[in-house]
Amino acid sequence: MKHFISILMMIYLVYSGALAQENYIPTAENLKNREEFQDMKFGVFIHWGIYSMMADGEWIMNNKNLNYKEYALLAQGFYPSAFDAAKWVSDVKASGAKYICITSRHHDGFSMFGTKQSPYNIVDATPFKRDIIKELAEECHKQGIKLHFYYSILDWSRDDYFPIGRSGRGVGRTNKGEWKTYHNFMLNQLTELLTNYGEIGAIWFDGMWDQPEDFDWKLREIYDHIHSIQPGCLIINNHHLAPIEGEDGQTFEKDLPGQNQSGYSSTATVGKLPLETCETMNHTWGYSITDKDYKSEKELIHYLVKAAGNNANLLMNVGPRPNGEFPDIAIERYLAIGRWLNEYGESIYGTRGGIIEPRDWGVTTQKGNKIYVHILNLEDDALYLPIQGKMIASVKQFIDGKPIKFTTSEKGILLNLNSKPDAIDYVLEIDMK
Ligand code: GLC
Repeated sequence: MKHFISILMMIYLVYSGALAQENYIPTAENLKNREEFQDMKFGVFIHWGIYSMMADGEWIMNNKNLNYKEYALLAQGFYPSAFDAAKWVSDVKASGAKYICITSRHHDGFSMFGTKQSPYNIVDATPFKRDIIKELAEECHKQGIKLHFYYSILDWSRDDYFPIGRSGRGVGRTNKGEWKTYHNFMLNQLTELLTNYGEIGAIWFDGMWDQPEDFDWKLREIYDHIHSIQPGCLIINNHHLAPIEGEDGQTFEKDLPGQNQSGYSSTATVGKLPLETCETMNHTWGYSITDKDYKSEKELIHYLVKAAGNNANLLMNVGPRPNGEFPDIAIERYLAIGRWLNEYGESIYGTRGGIIEPRDWGVTTQKGNKIYVHILNLEDDALYLPIQGKMIASVKQFIDGKPIKFTTSEKGILLNLNSKPDAIDYVLEIDMK
């Protein structure tokens, strides 16, 4: 009997020990940052690297099967003479965005920061020699913009990214390598990113889909490493799956949470962590000289509003030119979003998805006792909302406070709008009792 009890005890200890290791407990600072992250609602994604010189997106090395050694020589011609971190950050501010997420190292393996882990980086391998991440970080801290780092977990240039994954198979790498050194390389680079550039809002991983589902990335070790250096830093991973233990946010690529228009989100059930959706302004992430098919101001504003109504942030991408400038159309679009946010920001920043689920006509956002009704597409001059009339103190137009008449029925209210709304976003404010 004694023997049996001690076996039970042992099973319990092993089991509870394993659980203790499994459960990630975010710090108070991390939880606070999650709230602040959700309050920001809008961020700018920047895809920039030596691929920008070929002006055909960030996947060109893979898409054209460029030899990795030949591709690496591009670095010797990278001299972004117009790069001005202060201008980038002030354009981002003018867009109303509150954070930047920039590619510190993309799948091509080139580091856009001064890393000591490999000479294949902007300081050591280009005539430019400037650490653009350092300049950007300083400017972000100065102008009050949060900085997030995109970090590719896959690599098309290193021999120790082995086994080779689904992509980058035709770039000429050797067929052997030690994963352990790649893993350590990543840990060391993350140490640099989290110690040399001040406070970092988030590390945003990408590329896990490159390996089979059961591949062991030793993610937890990577995540714990990040949190041991900056416990408040959020970990977001664009793995297209439900959140994994140790993460602090969930991102959706080219999809609103719960949708799957892009084909990337079929396995991504919406979890309980702060949500983000990332999208391109045209069709490419990295600079493309031919892709001029930019979304209109209205489409972009609608996407931002829909993201907010789905309780998510929007991370809207720009692919800077090889000389370091944002394309003119991208700046125009960012400024248009900024003008709109100047007027309507109160109904977006600091809100959460509203009590009414997103509808075909639009979405609702909510802050304290206020509900903002964002009417984006309505064919009629009246709108039914399933909110009990007795809970409502007033309904008014957000822009000028003009009262909106409504009638109550058993389960909701019918707003009388007088005419069919034609604003980009006709916003109403409901004050709840
Ligand atoms: C995809 C692409 C990558 C891009 C990312 C942004 O995962 O592979 O190029 O950086 O989406 O969400």
